[in-house]
Amino acid sequence: MKQVLQSSKLAGIRYELRGRVPRAAKELESLGHRILNMNLGDPAPYGFAVPEPIVRDVIHNLGRAQGYSDSKGLFSARTAVAQHYQNRGLLDVQVEDVFIGNGVSELIPMALQALLEDGDEVLVPSPDFPVWTAAVGLADGVVRHYLCDPDNDWMPSLDDIRRKITPRTRAVVVINPNNPTGAVYPEAILRGIADLARQHGLVIFADEIYEKVLFEDSHIHTAAIAPDLCCITFSGLSKAYRVPGYRAGWLVITGPRSASASYREGLELLASLRLCANVPAQHAIQTALGGYQSIDDLVRPGGRLRLQRDYAHKVLNEIPGLECVQAGGALYLFVRIDTDMYPFASDEDFSYELLHDQKLLVTHGSAFNWFGSQYFRFAFLPSLAEIEDAAIRLRTFLRSRSLSPLREQPKKPEPIDSK
Ligand SMILES: Cc1ncc(COP(=O)(O)O)c(C=O)c1O
Repeated sequence: MKQVLQSSKLAGIRYELRGRVPRAAKELESLGHRILNMNLGDPAPYGFAVPEPIVRDVIHNLGRAQGYSDSKGLFSARTAVAQHYQNRGLLDVQVEDVFIGNGVSELIPMALQALLEDGDEVLVPSPDFPVWTAAVGLADGVVRHYLCDPDNDWMPSLDDIRRKITPRTRAVVVINPNNPTGAVYPEAILRGIADLARQHGLVIFADEIYEKVLFEDSHIHTAAIAPDLCCITFSGLSKAYRVPGYRAGWLVITGPRSASASYREGLELLASLRLCANVPAQHAIQTALGGYQSIDDLVRPGGRLRLQRDYAHKVLNEIPGLECVQAGGALYLFVRIDTDMYPFASDEDFSYELLHDQKLLVTHGSAFNWFGSQYFRFAFLPSLAEIEDAAIRLRTFLRSRSLSPLREQPKKPEPIDSK
């Protein structure tokens, strides 16, 4: 039979979060090894309770969820999403501005495809959640990565954004709170980005899936400070409500409706071409947004996520040659390796060797389109005991790879009170 070749359009499209290193981890697991997994943004394997009313609502409605819904989503779910933003100061959001999707990951390519002509440029943060970079490529656009600055708590560099705007730039992506850095952006940064978008006629894509996973700072919707601009805000149930497998997300389009009429039509066309999002999970949206917000218990002082974040930050920074900024939000620390102490050929090699040596899985920084080769992402969803175990394995691994013998003896990190 003639070879069945993949499309050349896939050349250069990458998603390393499920790439060589995680594939090697699967192989090791199939050989009977137990892998300590610190690379996932999925709360499910780590014993987080799913809010019961959400599950009950899905079960309750299952018997009448077998048909297609409106391609933009169930009216009740879209109303709940609109009210969610109205309650947070975006008073003008209406049901017709809301599109429900099978998670934000489905809506990102849809939103880009509806906008971009071949060769149009999109400003995407570096590092980023890599679906953004991949989706621009799949829509035949060109990614221009802008710097989020590790020397400035991973804030987007407005100068770099400004420098990278060309006549072909159509949009700027803002991931806030950020995956993988955990940065939460203050109003001044968001205003700076909005000003640039205003000056250059750019659409803003605001990925806010972690809007409620916040430890110290309050979250500001970019759309709230740019009401005069076309802004597409993305969020969903995957993180704050711990049900990523339900695939329930949304986008909301704000700004002057007359200016975005054609784009909205394009979005509606693409939404109807995929008929509709998974209907049973859409029933979860109204209950999730309306009821008690149990995520608040996890992120407040003494809450499980807060303790794990603090502990991970402490024990990683105690390892010689590792350094990370504290996360204000989301579920990750982006950790810098001192490559003068530990000479790895690349960050991917670092995570590959760590996996084989210590059976510990983290994600290398360049998987997030970070240009350097000195970082890895450490997810703090696993328990305190697992974080402690991971820190010991990292310490042991790095000691074996250190150029200069480390004077310090391996020590068990001090557990912190989890009561
Ligand atoms: C920044 C960001 N956006 C979007 C997503 C995907 O969300 P969903 O599960 O709704 O597809 C993730 C998942 O990790 C993410 O980190």
